Amino acid sequence: MSNWEDKFAARAERMRASEIRELLKLLDQPDIISFAGGIPDPTLFPNRAFSEAYEDLLSGDAAGAALQYSVSEGYLPLREWLVDHMAALGVPCSPENILIVSGSQQALDYLGKLFLSPGDTALVARPTYLGALQAFNAYEPRYDRLAPEGDNMTPHAYREAARDAGGRVALAYLTPEFSNPTGETIDRAARERLLDLTADLDIPLIEDAAYQALRYDGQPVPPILALDVERSRGIDNTRTIYCGTFSKTLSPGLRVGWVCAAAPVIRKLVLMKQASDLHSPTINQFVMHKVAIRHYDAHTARLRDTYRRRRDLLLDALAQHMPQGTSWTKPEGGMFIWVTLPEGMDGASLLARAIETEKVAFVPGKAFHADGSGANTIRLSFSLADEHAAAEGIARLGRLISRMAAEIA
Ligand SMILES: Cc1ncc(COP(=O)(O)O)c(C=O)c1O
Repeated sequence: MSNWEDKFAARAERMRASEIRELLKLLDQPDIISFAGGIPDPTLFPNRAFSEAYEDLLSGDAAGAALQYSVSEGYLPLREWLVDHMAALGVPCSPENILIVSGSQQALDYLGKLFLSPGDTALVARPTYLGALQAFNAYEPRYDRLAPEGDNMTPHAYREAARDAGGRVALAYLTPEFSNPTGETIDRAARERLLDLTADLDIPLIEDAAYQALRYDGQPVPPILALDVERSRGIDNTRTIYCGTFSKTLSPGLRVGWVCAAAPVIRKLVLMKQASDLHSPTINQFVMHKVAIRHYDAHTARLRDTYRRRRDLLLDALAQHMPQGTSWTKPEGGMFIWVTLPEGMDGASLLARAIETEKVAFVPGKAFHADGSGANTIRLSFSLADEHAAAEGIARLGRLISRMAAEIA
């Protein structure tokens, strides 16, 4: 076939290689001090617990079941463990409210498929998780800005804009805690405002809780789903769809995440999962269950200690080395710090020079904006920060930003 482009369906139009994922491929050089990769530190994975769990399963009576097809809803004992986990977060629910998915990324794809028709509007924060934009893009939405911390867009204005664009407001999506990319958390009042807004618009609200377990300080805020359950008198009346994952706590490689929501939504997602991949890998769900019951609490406590130390190291280095005109977030958890560069500076040009002259890498912020804005922002990740080299990396970056600021002035 000589030209594939005109054979692809319209939905493939916006499927492009992610600037960030392409970039990360280039950063595998040993002498680079990298703040780019926003992934868990592999040296912290509970390897031994996983190896014991696989060994136990494959050498015991459950081996046949672990290697067999299973139900689309997911492994019941794991869903029961998650019922207790969600109850501890203030969300009373039952296994009928839980679907196991292959990472929360799969949930985002399914939710896009379930709620978005071409031309519909998805309300997303600016900036937002790039993977959510990638998942939703396949369903050809337009985006409008969700700004729960102070916004003058009214439900009426959202509706009018969506209608003018030929669709309806179909969903809202955000990461309320330690967001990727900014590290910021929205407070309880903003969560309540979001519930008011989505109730007024009568749309589902997707709560991406990927980093929920990684809080290093500050007061926990109830999940939006917990606030919704309180208002709605029971999970089956809620509009919030909670996406959780074991990727940031136990391991992303097994691809085990979950959706917790009203039973009618879960039932529809189960049908979608049947059509898509039948079920998430049986053995990985069995293993995740074994590891979670034995190790989840102690392991996440250990992760919090390590990541907290790395966050503090980066925040101290930023305070020491960043020039005037630069500002950054002070996250209470997660893996990211979001830096706003001096006016007129471009994060992508900074990266090119940072790699070439300073051997330092990070991710430019523009890719996280649905509308292509945010050129003067960058994302720093501290999850993989080398505790010996991180301060030096920030010092080099600070010097380069000063030089570039002087060039612009
Ligand atoms: C905010 C957010 N949501 C979802 C995901 C997807 O995670 P997973 O599919 O591994 O659960 C990520 C991964 O980086 C993320 O940062």
